[in-house]
Amino acid sequence: MIGVLASGSGSNLGALIAAQLPIRVVIVNRPEVRAIDRAVKAGIEALTIDHTRYASRDDFDRALKDALVARGVKWVVLAGFMRIVGPTLLDAFTDRVVNVHPALLPSFPGLHAQRQALEAGVRIAGCTVHLVDQGTDTGPILAQAAVPVGTDDDEASLREKILKREHQLLPAVVQALLLGRLRRSGARVWLEGGPALGPDLELGAWIMGPPGSRS
Ligand code: GRF
Repeated sequence: MIGVLASGSGSNLGALIAAQLPIRVVIVNRPEVRAIDRAVKAGIEALTIDHTRYASRDDFDRALKDALVARGVKWVVLAGFMRIVGPTLLDAFTDRVVNVHPALLPSFPGLHAQRQALEAGVRIAGCTVHLVDQGTDTGPILAQAAVPVGTDDDEASLREKILKREHQLLPAVVQALLLGRLRRSGARVWLEGGPALGPDLELGAWIMGPPGSRS
């Protein structure tokens, strides 16, 4: 069972729903977050846990954790969740919190990743699905997909191109995580069992193979 946390339009949530993944609950951190409409339409329980109502970050974290644990959630997916999650949540879901970031990490962590990529003049941008640790977009990388940057791309067009890839990559990785067994050695993670996520020419490189393999 998956719990999805979102703060935005929820297009990644839409991709997870379309892939028919077992989403137990969707949690948003503000009542106006549009992702909630997608959850309601899909008949998924939707909760608003408003971060502005909590005195501290840790209190907010605990409310998230309690809601997820009470519903038997095993994997937590941050699908455009714009709050930093802290130790209270991470300790309850060790190596089971996944984030999607619109850049090829470790380049361009944090906000405005697409703008950072354009300003750096990179020719290849992309997205990363990674495990969440205490840093900002620093956790072990599960998979990445590449997107070429055109000379006419601006922030909006690059965002759209990358989002398309996110919508392919995130559900595929979450599906694989549900079916396989995640192994970890330092910063390297890989799956035993479950579907192989090897290189895919359509999607750029997907990286999730065991140590020593190139896939
Ligand atoms: C995505 O680009 C995701 O990578 C980033 O926030 C955006 C969320 O978009 N963390 P959406 O709400 O899923 O449409």
